[in-house]
Amino acid sequence: MNATPTATPTATPTAMPNALVPTLDPHALAKALSGFHLIDGVLRPAVSGKTFDVVSPATRKVVGQAAYGEKADVDVAVAAAKRAQVEWGKRSARERGKLVAECGRKLADHVEELARLVALETGKALRTESRVEASVVADAFAFYGGLGGELKGETVPFNPKMITMTVREPIGVVGAIIPWNVPMMLMAYKIAPALVAGNAVVVKSAEEAPLAVLRVGQILNQVLPPGVFNLLSGFGPECGGPIVAHKDVGKVSFTGSVDTGKIIAHAAADRLIPVTLELGGKSPMIVMDDADLDKAVDGAVAGMRFTRQGQSCTAASRMFVHRKIHDAFVERLKAKVDKMVMGDPLDERTDIGAIVSPQQFERVQRYIGIGKAETGAKAHECSAMPKDAALKDGLFVRPVIFTGLKNDSRVCREEIFGPVTAVMAFDSYEEAIGLANDSDYGLAASIWTTNLKTALDATQRLQAGFVQVNQNLVVQPGLSYGGVKQSGLGKEASAEAMLDHFTQKKTVIMNLA
Ligand code: NAI
Ligand code: MG
Repeated sequence: MNATPTATPTATPTAMPNALVPTLDPHALAKALSGFHLIDGVLRPAVSGKTFDVVSPATRKVVGQAAYGEKADVDVAVAAAKRAQVEWGKRSARERGKLVAECGRKLADHVEELARLVALETGKALRTESRVEASVVADAFAFYGGLGGELKGETVPFNPKMITMTVREPIGVVGAIIPWNVPMMLMAYKIAPALVAGNAVVVKSAEEAPLAVLRVGQILNQVLPPGVFNLLSGFGPECGGPIVAHKDVGKVSFTGSVDTGKIIAHAAADRLIPVTLELGGKSPMIVMDDADLDKAVDGAVAGMRFTRQGQSCTAASRMFVHRKIHDAFVERLKAKVDKMVMGDPLDERTDIGAIVSPQQFERVQRYIGIGKAETGAKAHECSAMPKDAALKDGLFVRPVIFTGLKNDSRVCREEIFGPVTAVMAFDSYEEAIGLANDSDYGLAASIWTTNLKTALDATQRLQAGFVQVNQNLVVQPGLSYGGVKQSGLGKEASAEAMLDHFTQKKTVIMNLA
């Protein structure tokens, strides 16, 4: 990704072929998708003709270009969405659902190519991460496709001579602004429910990961009417800002940093439109001394998303471990992470890929430095740097397990979004709950124990939107996902998310007297 736009005269509007053939060479696919937004069912270059580079973080080589979106592009996309929404919103909810489910089936045929493309542009390992993401995308569409019939209202016993009811209506045009860490999945969890609810959408992809989502869009456009789904690439203030500010956008759904979330919430407040915000986290994991240690260590590796270089909003980046088992836990965790193979994201042997961008790489390094400078802290650096000469300039960071840090240190208070976790010892359950809740964030939390009473108590007292006992799963279709405190507003991934965040309710009274 290169912030300097350049003019490319080559890209011209391109109609979608009738059937897309999966393309397993991600380099060829990246080139074929270069330089386009997807607006009104057509791939088209930016109004200005400008593009920016898409760079593979594992090699630092330019692998493609993305259209440089600005206000003029937003205007075209929102106009297309507004037009298309009129007919889309009139279709029956189940009919829309059937088309969304059909999108899921088409996406399932493209899992491998999508996985390869997202691995190339984000640096996430194919086997451990990118393939999983691509499957979840298809599944999210399958899940929401079945929910058309759930767009129900209520009848109200207001007066026997009147029929009084609430109906759920689409909002109209929904804007979605997505990040780069799981770009296809996070887009799917926004647009599938928005579409089933009868909205048209305008998405802005993250500047670091514009291509795999564009391919998803192409696949969706095999099924959906033109203009119902539109996708722009571009930078935050230049392209995301005009979406939030556009008079015809009736709702914005955002995933990303707290700072950007607040900018978007302010802009939305000026227009009095609703927002959903999925922001960061500093998720605690409590391991009691009666926990199954092997399971807890496996759960720590999974929960910290070391396979995603820790670039996860739910990353278990604060691990509170009972002092009795602290040292054994750290030893086993280190041994496990040491065995993980860091390398080429497209190589099947690779467990851990590269950090997404130079900015993110620098941020992670900076926090590792801050942690090392704390009194009493020890940084255990695990796994080995890749030896492949082709990766010598790649953005690889050895996973770091800190011990001896305090919960009020910067590493434990601020979201790093990298492969850095802190293991801290505690002496009592009460102390652990207090430490876990002593955070500005409240996205996810887990407790590891074989004591049912402790487990139940912790689920009640942990301040987080997503609490798990003896596991650290990622977002699952059907389960509401979203944070409290600085971690955001609203829920995603469930039926509730579709009803609460992508519809508006109308009260209707019919006087039959
Ligand atoms: P960011 O929040 O700046 O970017 C996320 C999305 O928002 C991107 O599409 C970006 O173009 C857009 N954006 C940025 N500024 C905008 C604006 N003024 N108006 C409208 N849209 C705007 O996050 P960034 O810079 O990629 O990463 C910084 C930190 O944010 C990370 O280190 C991490 O801590 C956190 N983050 C959290 C994520 C999560 O899943 N909750 C995902 C990505 C980042
Ligand atoms: Mg940013």
